[in-house]
Amino acid sequence: EKAGYKHFMLKEIYEQPRAIIDTIRGKYSLEEGEIYFGEVDYETIKDIEKITIVACGTSWHAGLVGKFYIENFAKIPVEVDIASEFRYRNPIATNKTLLIPISQSGETADTIAALRMSKKMGAKVVSICNVVGSTIARESDGVIYTHAGPEIGVASTKAFTTQLASLFLFALFLGQKKGVLEKSEIKSILNDLIQLPEKIEEVLKHDKQIEDIAKEFVRYKNFLYLGRHYNYPIALEGALKLKEISYIHAEGYPAGEMKHGPIALIDKEMPVFVLGTKSRVYDKILANVEEVKARDGIVISTVTKGDKDIISKSDYSFILPVTLEELTPFLNSIIIQLFAYHASNLLGLDVDQPRNLAKSVTVE
Ligand code: M6R
Repeated sequence: EKAGYKHFMLKEIYEQPRAIIDTIRGKYSLEEGEIYFGEVDYETIKDIEKITIVACGTSWHAGLVGKFYIENFAKIPVEVDIASEFRYRNPIATNKTLLIPISQSGETADTIAALRMSKKMGAKVVSICNVVGSTIARESDGVIYTHAGPEIGVASTKAFTTQLASLFLFALFLGQKKGVLEKSEIKSILNDLIQLPEKIEEVLKHDKQIEDIAKEFVRYKNFLYLGRHYNYPIALEGALKLKEISYIHAEGYPAGEMKHGPIALIDKEMPVFVLGTKSRVYDKILANVEEVKARDGIVISTVTKGDKDIISKSDYSFILPVTLEELTPFLNSIIIQLFAYHASNLLGLDVDQPRNLAKSVTVE
């Protein structure tokens, strides 16, 4: 059932182009420049004033990207909370709140608790979930299913990128309904979205290069992942993936925070993984790369095809296809997933069943 792959995680990484196609299928018309979400009764959420996203782990990282999508495309304020934090503070939700729980399994105890609390306070609930009939799916007013298919590896990969795809389209949907986006804008964004699966295929071709680089780095004990704006959550995700399956300590940081602390750690024993694809914050990231190099740090970066500056200052780079800035998190995700995969595999660890971890955390 691993379809010839050595591990489920690797198979699931390679399934991402297909999983994204399945997740977005039937939800848009390129000709009309329209987005459809039949599973969400828009009438019941049209008056919402705030969106709260709750999730744990990798799903929380997807939520962080989702905030940028929704605020950018639909201009609705979004807060993103870790479900285990949300449930023990005094969160504010009303009947003008839309709660979006994000969960691959639909059975994460803290996320279920956050959902129930919000419902009691009158919030509408539209969840993003991968498992049909799961607790979260059953208890929500509407469910946006990610069509990733069963995810067996403990490390979430295709569930994550399909969550991103759902959030991206849902943000466009809200932007369309609220009249923030014109049809022509939606058409042009959709044009980029439908090319994404092919671009992911292209990124997957870096597999061998990633393995070779991972070979040089598995002896290190600490890593720093830096990203900014749309790719700040991907830096967190990169660090989580590496910790989770290779047991190498890694921290993810929004790059602008580097000078507020983590820069003190930089030396030649702590490689820095920089998500440096083209974006509005490119120059800022370039400055971070220069700061790392000035301190004898080692930089592994992702860059966009045609890049000149970050690539020339990095020790190793992965060149990614040009895409819409909003879609760069998908491409960067593939690289950090494969890097963690190869690190774990090269260290001879149990990639699919890392120690101390369960696929779904059904108790607090
Ligand atoms: O099933 P869920 O999406 O609710 O699970 C949330 C986390 O437990 C999960 O994403 C976890 O962080 C993964 N093992 C990360 O790879």
